[in-house]
Amino acid sequence: MIQAEHAQSDSMRPAPPPMDHWRPFARQFSADPRRSDDAFLNRLMDEVMADQTLIDVGAGGGRLALPLALHCKHVTAVEPSPAMGEVLTGGAKAHHVENISLVPSDWLEVQVEPADQVLCVHVLYTIQDIGGFIRKLQDHARAQVMVVMYGAPPQSQNYPLWEKVHGTPRLPLPSVPEFREVLRDLGIEAREEPLAAQPARGFDSMEQALDQISGRLFLGEDDPKRDMLTRMLPDELEETDGVYRIRGAVPLQPWLIRWAGSASG
Ligand SMILES: C[S@@+](CC[C@H](N)C(=O)[O-])C[C@H]1O[C@@H](n2cnc3c(N)ncnc32)[C@H](O)[C@@H]1O
Repeated sequence: MIQAEHAQSDSMRPAPPPMDHWRPFARQFSADPRRSDDAFLNRLMDEVMADQTLIDVGAGGGRLALPLALHCKHVTAVEPSPAMGEVLTGGAKAHHVENISLVPSDWLEVQVEPADQVLCVHVLYTIQDIGGFIRKLQDHARAQVMVVMYGAPPQSQNYPLWEKVHGTPRLPLPSVPEFREVLRDLGIEAREEPLAAQPARGFDSMEQALDQISGRLFLGEDDPKRDMLTRMLPDELEETDGVYRIRGAVPLQPWLIRWAGSASG
């Protein structure tokens, strides 16, 4: 599924993909580490004790790794994207979080000590060696592995627009249904729990929507399909309180999926 989705993306791209895919979005993956009103973060904190260590695999800009570091003994943030790493270390410095170390590497290549908890949030959709990746999560957790994934591909709210503009269905990335099959194949018995659904993606203006959706649909500045999208958007978006959302977009449902680790010590 991942190879097919990537091949479809490549067939539509006006230019080769950027070296660091995450650079334009990295700031969106940071947040105040001392916030107390984030129900999702609070649920993760319930699982992590003050004297425990944690590895956050694919930590992004530290949206979760930094507050979890303030809550526990130490966090190792494994994050291969330089842009994400910069946001994470910038956040750690700005908010005086000292018990966090960034390891700028791919999880499948990294060598790190096991920790009590291993966390991996919204990373698995594009991991091709999923068996090796999951086994390594489990081998590095003394107490527990926690994975968070949406019940549908993260970009699925854009899939209907893709089909209208490109005239062919968007091939989906895997999400929770496929992950359940992986766990079954690996003989892993996990607990699953739905977390608060994420509201549909919002845009501050019609122009911002056009810009961001054009990017997701790989429409270059001069692509005639961009004009087609411009004409479609007033009907395809609905506006509430100044926020534009894709009409009929189903909120993404995140799931917390956790199971026992197998690291010793
Ligand atoms: C959607 S972001 C999620 C970031 C963070 N977990 C969060 O929820 O805010 C996915 C992150 O996974 C990272 N990632 C992708 N493949 C990875 C791999 N093989 N090993 C480690 N991290 C990876 C990306 O660089 C990116 O920062």
